[in-house]
Amino acid sequence: MMQATRAVPAELADFLRRNGLLPGPGAPEGLPLTGGVSSEIWLVRSGEAELVVKQPLEELKVGDWHAPLTRSRYEAEWLRVVGDLVPGACPRILASDPQENLLAMEYLEPEDYPVWKSELFAGRIDPDVATGVGDRLGRIHRMSAARPDLAQDFDTSDLFAALRIQPYLEHTGARHPELAPALERIAARTLSTRLALVHGDVSPKNILVGPDGPVFLDAECAWWGDPAFDLAFCLNHLLLKYLVLDTHRPAVEASYGALIASYLPHVEWESRDLLLSRTAELLPALLLARVDGRSPAEYLTPAHHDAVRAFATPNIHTPLRDPRTVFSAWKDALS
Ligand SMILES: Nc1ncnc2c1ncn2[C@@H]1O[C@H](COP(=O)(O)OP(=O)(O)O)[C@@H](O)[C@H]1O
Ligand SMILES: [Mg+2]
Repeated sequence: MMQATRAVPAELADFLRRNGLLPGPGAPEGLPLTGGVSSEIWLVRSGEAELVVKQPLEELKVGDWHAPLTRSRYEAEWLRVVGDLVPGACPRILASDPQENLLAMEYLEPEDYPVWKSELFAGRIDPDVATGVGDRLGRIHRMSAARPDLAQDFDTSDLFAALRIQPYLEHTGARHPELAPALERIAARTLSTRLALVHGDVSPKNILVGPDGPVFLDAECAWWGDPAFDLAFCLNHLLLKYLVLDTHRPAVEASYGALIASYLPHVEWESRDLLLSRTAELLPALLLARVDGRSPAEYLTPAHHDAVRAFATPNIHTPLRDPRTVFSAWKDALS
């Protein structure tokens, strides 16, 4: 920790102490971590070790968006389950308190674990990272799909509807009435597809690029549901990066293809064509949602908005069947 530390809020400190995560008496010192929009999150020094303690906020720091605090317990459960199924794919969880909606996990230092979003925007766009993301995401979906008993532990359709379906798909439908029926169909299909453990927020800002592969953070939207949502959500971020990082388009294109190529061999729970077609159908909807949904991407200009709307509208009406075809069409639209 280089910066000046501050006293950790008492509720968080008490939680750490109850769980034996503070070595001595005295108020622990820490630093608030920035970058997120939905929680109080602190880096705390605990003896030799450093750890992260996280508590969700009732109101997100983006507009007037409220989210149930119980999402913390599903994030904790996701960290536990994925830590066992795919070791290394997430930080190790150290403790959680479902009553107080608190969790503690190991801290992964930015020198060794930079945030993927920062890497991309710094122009360090390495398709091998995307290969790792597709492989680890596919592994999480495949291993969990073989564990149908997990369905009852992540029976979070109400939360997923409130955190993902409403802000992304329904909100966008309200802004584009002519697209609302198609978006409603996609929403209903997504909610009724229950196949694997979904992370729900596979965004480059929630992925650390570690020495042994990508590490997924921030599983507050965890849900037993449609794995195509995670794949589409992450690919959508790469479609947006292709738009804005226009001096790095070949590397973004290679990353997009690499992610799909490493993900697909894991798809054993259903036919690859079905998974691909749901992914392709979600993509233009999620793309438009980053312009006209509840949580617009902060880095898009009005010209970008126009490009997204012009592309997304016909492709929501008449969906393509493969995310690779979506990419070619997007590339053509922008050239
Ligand atoms: N275990 C961790 N190790 C290192 N950095 C972390 C860890 N957890 C969170 N962070 C940092 O804090 C930021 C916000 O955390 P996140 O869990 O995504 O919260 P939010 O729900 O507010 O988005 C992350 O983008 C990352 O930079
Ligand atoms: Mg986050």
